[in-house]
Amino acid sequence: MRLDKFICKSTHYTLAEALMLIETGRVIVNETVVFEVSYQAHKNSVVTLDGHSLTPRPFRYFMLHKPVDMICSNVDEKYPSVLNLLDVDSVSELHIAGRLDADTTGLVLVTDDGHWSFNLTSPSNKCEKVYKVLLSKPISPDAAQRFAEGILLQGESNLTLPATLQIIDPYNVFLTLTEGRFHQVKRMFSAIGNRVKSLHRQQIGSLELDIEEGHWRSLTLAEVETLSVEHLS
Ligand code: URA
Repeated sequence: MRLDKFICKSTHYTLAEALMLIETGRVIVNETVVFEVSYQAHKNSVVTLDGHSLTPRPFRYFMLHKPVDMICSNVDEKYPSVLNLLDVDSVSELHIAGRLDADTTGLVLVTDDGHWSFNLTSPSNKCEKVYKVLLSKPISPDAAQRFAEGILLQGESNLTLPATLQIIDPYNVFLTLTEGRFHQVKRMFSAIGNRVKSLHRQQIGSLELDIEEGHWRSLTLAEVETLSVEHLS
């Protein structure tokens, strides 16, 4: 972890204040004064500020059930950020691992562990995301095969990775993706001449959404570890 971040995670100083503390020589790592904010502190580094030893707070991991008309951003824009749903300290330290559109509902993961979220969202790790989709027209008979083979989205030059379609009834399907291109589900159905009327993310890896809309909960240690093991880079 960068030294400035290490200080923020061990104290209540902001990033700007941490920078000032480092640049004025008040931070010592393993008995040497360090002036570089980008210095990488490790698990075993002994870091002191004005002679007091610092220990970063443990990482935090949450699931939340996103309603429509909230956005997956750290700041409010046209709609409020989903982070407003979380009544926990230091929300500004958290980020969203895999965004949903404003009109999509469902499972969103929030953490301050950048390594963990990188593993989950990195396309090379092929983490499965399961979406429930309501369509405006009946699903075409060749849709499952076309999605399994990969399709070319408008404006792109690479086929989508194989995706699994499970048909519930002609208007309702589950789609499982292992990548997360911009508006991917909506664009995939558009490419086969259909339209998504509503979209809901039900599952990420082995983790299923199990809370009411607008609610959140901490992930258990077992859930955090299972998702890491499934998607280790
Ligand atoms: N695909 C979309 O089109 N929208 C989302 O919110 C997620 C996946």
